[in-house]
Amino acid sequence: MEQIKNYINQHQERFISELMEMLRIPSVSADSKYKDDVLRNAEFVKKSLVAAGADKSEVCLTPGHPIVYAEKIIDPKLPTVVVYGHYDVQPPDPLDLWDSPPFEPVIKDGLIVARGSCDDKGQMFMHVKAFELMMKTNTLPCNVKFMIEGEEEVGSSNLGNWIRENKERLKGDVILISDTSIIANDIPSIDVGLRGLSYVEVEVTGPNRDLHSGVYGGAVANPITILCEMIAKCKDENNHITIPGFYDKVLTLTKEEREELNRAPFSLDEYKKDLNIDDVHGETGYTTLERTGIRPTFELNGIWGGYIGEGAKTVLPSKAFAKISMRLVPNQTSDEITKLFADHFNSLAPKSVKVKVTPHHGGEPVVTPTDSIAFKAASMAMEATFGKKPIPTRGGGSIPIVALFEKELGLKSVLMGFGLDSDLIHSPNEHYGVFNFLKGIETIPMFFKNFTELSK
Ligand code: BES
Ligand code: MN
Ligand code: MN
Repeated sequence: MEQIKNYINQHQERFISELMEMLRIPSVSADSKYKDDVLRNAEFVKKSLVAAGADKSEVCLTPGHPIVYAEKIIDPKLPTVVVYGHYDVQPPDPLDLWDSPPFEPVIKDGLIVARGSCDDKGQMFMHVKAFELMMKTNTLPCNVKFMIEGEEEVGSSNLGNWIRENKERLKGDVILISDTSIIANDIPSIDVGLRGLSYVEVEVTGPNRDLHSGVYGGAVANPITILCEMIAKCKDENNHITIPGFYDKVLTLTKEEREELNRAPFSLDEYKKDLNIDDVHGETGYTTLERTGIRPTFELNGIWGGYIGEGAKTVLPSKAFAKISMRLVPNQTSDEITKLFADHFNSLAPKSVKVKVTPHHGGEPVVTPTDSIAFKAASMAMEATFGKKPIPTRGGGSIPIVALFEKELGLKSVLMGFGLDSDLIHSPNEHYGVFNFLKGIETIPMFFKNFTELSK
């Protein structure tokens, strides 16, 4: 551990400046105008892995954005850790809410501020630097493979095929991922579950053209009004989702499991204060930790239609739209939920409108084991570096590819993240603590050591 700390102390300035260099690349996967930047970021990751000591490192092109693969095999008989991360980022909008430009990283009060600083460039780069550390100090105890993708934020649509085509070279013993949060810098935790996702876009069409709202209003369906009514019908007064069959497969936790989950440190007052809300809002009968951890949701992500420009325009619009995401929990499946939603939504539509439901990407929920060697290795590593045993928690977000790793490669994942929920991922002023970045670099080599020893 001393050796790890010494290496970090000697090289931390460079680690941070290299991360800042990568943060200057606007690798926004959702927007095609950044396609070249995304590729440039893949090259950057590849070069960093080579410089750190990887034998093979390759930018693998896909029909979408590239996947970076690298490996260091020291002995085929030793265990192999497969590291997954993503170098793509969410769009930085709305730009005017950033205190400094999203792709011009700055360090302010110990925080690295830039799009992607936490999600996931900062967390992914900890693995590159931890690998460098193990290579340069001659302490890499087992084999390592890296699979760093550029499409996580848009649903990983090409990674599934790529892993199916590369099953042989992805052989390993565990997937290690840092793309989640801890409870607080003095309360380490490990996510043991991620929610799945079913994402749809809906279009409601009324008349065949925009109409004068005086001449036609009152006699023809207004698609915005109808859309709002249909959406309102998807939940009841207890915020319970009313889509028939929606909860049929939901795995209910035992009283003990729920108690265990609610033992995690959490202050409702601080939560409300942080968000500047007077009350929380959710499904009756569940705590906030349960609402985000073990219960499925139905959320509107965007809704539009009609006139939204300056001043007033008396229009009865032809169309209205919404983007809706449903977070899923075990044992719901995204295809099934998307279908249940589509059937229900169609059934809610009055004859005066037409409805179109377009599914986007989906992903399956996962729970990761807590009785595995890998979980133990991560828990021990965090306990050593934080001085406290990490608490198993359920994260509300999704990393859809984790379920696929299990299905296609037969490999379980360990979600050893170092972010904080307050890091503003996907929001303006996203940041990542220098403390968290360095703590990750310190903890990862401990994981490798523990995992190798426990595997014997
Ligand atoms: N790293 C996040 C997921 C996450 C964040 C999990 C915090 C747990 C805690 C990931 O990059 C992400 O944003 N995933 C998307 C899903 C994707 C299909 C767009 C999400 O959760 O919305
Ligand atoms: Mn992420
Ligand atoms: Mn994300």
